This record gives sequence, structure tokens and C-alpha cells, in this order.
Amino acid sequence: MNIITVKSYHELSKISANIIAAQINKKPTSVLGLATGSTPVGTYKNLVEMYRNGLVDFSKVITFNLDEYCGLSRENPQSYYYFMMENLFSHVNIPQENINIPNGRAMDIESECREYENKIRQVNGIDLQLLGIGHNGHIGFNEPDDVFHNNTRLVKLTQTTIEANKRFFNSAEDVPKTAISMGIKTIMSAREILVIAGPDKEEIMGKLLEQSCSPRIPASILHYHPNCTVIWAKGN
Ligand code: GLP
Repeated sequence: MNIITVKSYHELSKISANIIAAQINKKPTSVLGLATGSTPVGTYKNLVEMYRNGLVDFSKVITFNLDEYCGLSRENPQSYYYFMMENLFSHVNIPQENINIPNGRAMDIESECREYENKIRQVNGIDLQLLGIGHNGHIGFNEPDDVFHNNTRLVKLTQTTIEANKRFFNSAEDVPKTAISMGIKTIMSAREILVIAGPDKEEIMGKLLEQSCSPRIPASILHYHPNCTVIWAKGN
């Protein structure tokens, strides 16, 4: 795991956008794994600006998002589908059919998850996976547990995550209790991983850097990825 510490969130956002743009420029048909949450917002802003300045072209890019809440429609401003459209997709030239986000309202969640994995396999896997990190060490919505869960599946959100994410909703009661998340094996199969962490992640970053691999801190598995970079902004 290669750790880059930077002074500000602004710097983090610029560097991560540059890494993603470089990946797309190197391979225009790149398959990107994308993340939601507040941390990637600046990265996406920079990518949109680069696109507007003709520095990156999304016309052949394929994306797979990490997760989606169960029960929220695409039109719901709290859904990750809506977030991605607002923050990135509706501002760049990615074809709609190249965008993949789990459908949290699928009638058959199990087959939705299986299909999601199949689609990733059909495009020969993810070239670059962007990841945020939860305060409890979750990646995607892979919550702390006794074991690592491999595949894309239905997950029950922990109270810590519900509390952390209630800022986007009217109250904690409104936060969905379940979600679909890409699994740990799916994430680890990406050829390259880029983790971004803001100054609010000091505690979990400390644990991640000190501790050995444990499913109690799902992000700790990343120590075993051969090509994982963490950009950590220590200041605002
Ligand atoms: C959510 C997402 C994660 C994200 C995490 C951190 O729980 N499912 O993928 O990494 O939030 O969010 P933030 O960047 O807002 O701290």
C-alpha cells in the first residue's frame, strides 16, 4: 500500500482526478469502479473541469459503482444513482449504457447481485477502483464483520454507518437499513485501487496503518492489494 499524505482536501481532489484522467487517457476504454460519499465530490468536480477543458474523454469509459441503498428510486436525491448523475455523469460525455449502478429496488436482489458480478466479468474486470473509507473502516458498504464477504450482495448497514450517513437525510430513521454492495473479492480484483481519505478520517487511518489485516476493519484487506494507493489529506 502506497500512502501519499497531502496538506489539503483541495490537493487530494486534484491528485486523484489526475490519476483517474491519466488512466482514461492511457486506455480510453477503461473500466472504472466509482465511489460515492462526500470525499469523492472534489475529485469529480476536477474531472468535470478537465472534461470541459478537453483534457479527458469519457465516451468509451465504462463505470461500475460500489453500492446503492435498497428501496430508493433513481430520482431520490439520496440515492447513489442521483448522486453520480449530479456530481459526474450528467456533466461528461459518458454514454448512459456504460453506467452501471446496482439497482436497489430490484425485485430479485440476489439475481441483481449475480448479474452485476457477471457484467464486471464480461468487460474483463475493473482497471481502476476509486474508494472512500467509512469511519468504521468500511469500503463500499462492506461493514466490519467476523469474515470478509467476497461477492456483491445485500448488506445490512451498521448503526455507525446509519449515524454517519444521516447527514444526507432528514433523520437517522430515513436512512435505508440495507444496501447492495460490491464484495471484497470484487474490489480486490481491480487491477489498481485508489483510496481517498479526508481529514475527518484520522482515527480510522491511524488504525488502518497500524493494524494487520482483519475483517473488523474491512479496508485493512487493501494491505494485500499489489497496486493500491491511498491519498490522505491531513488538513482541510
Ligand atoms: C458511504 C459509502 C462509502 C463511502 C463512505 C464514506 O458509506 N457507501 O463507499 O466510502 O460513505 O463517505 P464519506 O466520504 O462521506 O466519508
